[in-house]
Amino acid sequence: MPEAFIQIEQLYKTFDTPAGPLNVLRGIDLDIHKGDFVALIGPSGSGKTTFLNMLTAVDSPTSGDVTVGDVQVTQVAQRRLTKWRARNIGIVFQFFQLLPTLTVVENVIAPMDFANVWNPSERRDIALKLLDRFGIADQAFKTPDMLSGGQQQRVAIARALANNPPLVIGDEPTGNLDRMSADNVFGLFQQLADRGTTVIIVTHDRELVRNVPKLYELADGTIGETTLEAAARRRTAELRASRTKSATKG
Ligand SMILES: Nc1ncnc2c1ncn2[C@@H]1O[C@H](COP(=O)(O)OP(=O)(O)OP(=O)(O)O)[C@@H](O)[C@H]1O
Ligand SMILES: [Mg+2]
Repeated sequence: MPEAFIQIEQLYKTFDTPAGPLNVLRGIDLDIHKGDFVALIGPSGSGKTTFLNMLTAVDSPTSGDVTVGDVQVTQVAQRRLTKWRARNIGIVFQFFQLLPTLTVVENVIAPMDFANVWNPSERRDIALKLLDRFGIADQAFKTPDMLSGGQQQRVAIARALANNPPLVIGDEPTGNLDRMSADNVFGLFQQLADRGTTVIIVTHDRELVRNVPKLYELADGTIGETTLEAAARRRTAELRASRTKSATKG
């Protein structure tokens, strides 16, 4: 097995809260390989977004190491991380987060300008090709508010791919879409992974999870490989235990 594209070692994250320290990530060790298509599940509040923030270096861990490609992100200065992130990671959010005053094609060009990727005279063409690949070239000169949710998410994916990043991350990227749009977006992620892009998505969507090659669950601050059935069994057992507990409390 070649060295993993993403290496996570002994990752801890504790938040200081008014109620005291909150240990969200408690010693995660995980390798993710190039071209892996990974879904991460876990209850609300279990730390999925916190974990993604460690990979994208939006937030820094309390301790531990994260390496993406040949960069140990936990050791890089914050001011250098912004450009690194823009060149290496495409991020797709649940609520799309397109810039409302820019047209669709301008939204896709923005990260190219920011990271100074591609020849400036070619950027528009590259953006239009990406939109075409996702079937929304005819929307290029509208503003995002004129598009449906599914269309907006396809724009967001085009934008995430603007700089051809080796890693694409989605935090509930289909959370706001109907079944058909969700399946469509999922298919796009699948295509990316088939071409060697590493894809990591957090999702609550059971239909999608069924089709993802690798499923991980975040629970009690650690991440382990799981199956839908095992995750469901564990959830039922936890529910039962907490009901018994509250019943005995009276
Ligand atoms: N900046 C912060 N300061 C304090 N606590 C935080 C902070 N960010 C997150 N938390 C807490 O950490 C825990 C994990 O939050 P996180 O957003 O990672 O959960 P999640 O698994 O993404 O949940 P959801 O499925 O609802 O999106 C929660 O209890 C949350 O309140
Ligand atoms: Mg979250």
